[in-house]
Amino acid sequence: MTALSLTSVLKDDILVVGLAHSPSQRKGGKPILVIESGDLLLDAKGLEEILGDMGATGKADEVIKIPGNSVRLLVFTGLGKASSSYGHELLRRAAGAASRTLSNQKSATFALPAHNLEGVSAVAQGAALGAYLFNEFRSDELVTSNATLASAKIFTSHAAKTEFKDAVTEAAVIAQYTFLTRDLINTPPSHLNPASFADRMNAEVKAAGGARAGLSITVMTETTLKSKGYGGITAVGQGSANPPRLVRISYTPTGKVKPAKRYAFVGKGITFDSGGLALKPALGMEAMKSDMSGAAAVCSAVLAIAALKLPVAIDAWAPLAENMVSDNATRPSDIITIYGGKTVEVLNPDAEGRLVLADALQRAQEEKNLDAIFDIATLTGAQVVALGTRTSAVMTNNEALSEAFLAVTQETGEQFWPMPLPTELRASLDSPVADLANIGDRMGGMLVAGIFLKEFVSDDLPWLHLDIAGPAYNDRAVHGYTPVGGTGIGVRSLVAAAKAQI
Ligand code: BES
Ligand code: ZN
Ligand code: ZN
Repeated sequence: MTALSLTSVLKDDILVVGLAHSPSQRKGGKPILVIESGDLLLDAKGLEEILGDMGATGKADEVIKIPGNSVRLLVFTGLGKASSSYGHELLRRAAGAASRTLSNQKSATFALPAHNLEGVSAVAQGAALGAYLFNEFRSDELVTSNATLASAKIFTSHAAKTEFKDAVTEAAVIAQYTFLTRDLINTPPSHLNPASFADRMNAEVKAAGGARAGLSITVMTETTLKSKGYGGITAVGQGSANPPRLVRISYTPTGKVKPAKRYAFVGKGITFDSGGLALKPALGMEAMKSDMSGAAAVCSAVLAIAALKLPVAIDAWAPLAENMVSDNATRPSDIITIYGGKTVEVLNPDAEGRLVLADALQRAQEEKNLDAIFDIATLTGAQVVALGTRTSAVMTNNEALSEAFLAVTQETGEQFWPMPLPTELRASLDSPVADLANIGDRMGGMLVAGIFLKEFVSDDLPWLHLDIAGPAYNDRAVHGYTPVGGTGIGVRSLVAAAKAQI
């Protein structure tokens, strides 16, 4: 991972600066370019001209490198329209786009137009998040010998201030655990199943300091899950040779710190979703290795919160199963009993996420003194249809919690949008033989899934349901600090919610 630090003197021989285009003026058909180097005074005489000749436009995601005079390499990263104040997410993306192109370099200084704590923090996060490689399953030495940018220095006149240094430490933690999330998502089901996911978490908790850091982990095996009545997780996992697990990672602040809030985070952990007996079409099925993105996000978030020593208590729950086809797979019409006693008629075994989440939501609420419960899941294709691949949905039983969450996500740069849970859709989940069916009206499928989950959450416990089906996995092109594959969406916003004690 890229080491992050602050600097107010330029010593590196690689310098990253911003490049914007002036909103209206054009010169001889070319846009007027503006170099933005923030707190760094850069002698840019003639550079804009050269960049123009090279065809630079300064648009977002454009990265142009030229040899420098005072530095060896000048890297221009696009900022779009010139402005007197650039948005923090724009800066995060610009820093990420640049650092992605700096593999195998030792060190680079990022001088971007960030003028306050949040701006500098965004640049630091972007620089780290953009420098992600996943070459675990390649053997070509030319590829495997690639290393991410080793060190990124963020140029700011505030380099000596404690709160700025803290923001950089936080950015490093965020990047470390976003990378863990991405790694888990990118690891295919041949190498990641419920048991190995749980093993990995055991190792991560240990590496993070275990009890010394206020962390503990418990893993329920299939036998325990069966005997304790976790009918959702066992029904989904029973068609697979790789049995299910329920992982719980708890964090309580150490020492004399009394937690100000206590949250439960529940994440969908389907290590592969074939659709079960409602087998998915082959085209695109490979993306279903990402169906454990929610579980990866909640486990990573609790580890990040522990690393940051935030004064809140968290239980992260990861119900893990592999949804497969076999003579033992759950059949359409099977009736299962969710933890706590409610029965569900499984009409479609491809609507499996809500079944494992129902068990985990019920179990999570047995803990006393919860202030709020969050679930995060790649739950419905309908989410992608409604909001696309970059905006996640938020559903809730508590508007105030939802508003507070949406407010913190403004600064994280993760895009979320509120969605309703219309009561009239509940009837579509009625079953003639059980308490409810696992599918309802196809129209508004994302909302129906949310309404299903709501049945397993106490009305007086504030709850947020985050559907990240589209944003969790990028099967298109890289952009900003987002690589192809697992994105790690959710980690930053869960950590921010805990930090803000919403
Ligand atoms: N894991 C899928 C949802 C999904 C789709 C995630 C696309 C990411 C990208 C989920 O388990 C599923 O298959 N949902 C069904 C539900 C339906 C049967 C009610 C869906 O959305 O089609
Ligand atoms: Zn499914
Ligand atoms: Zn699924």
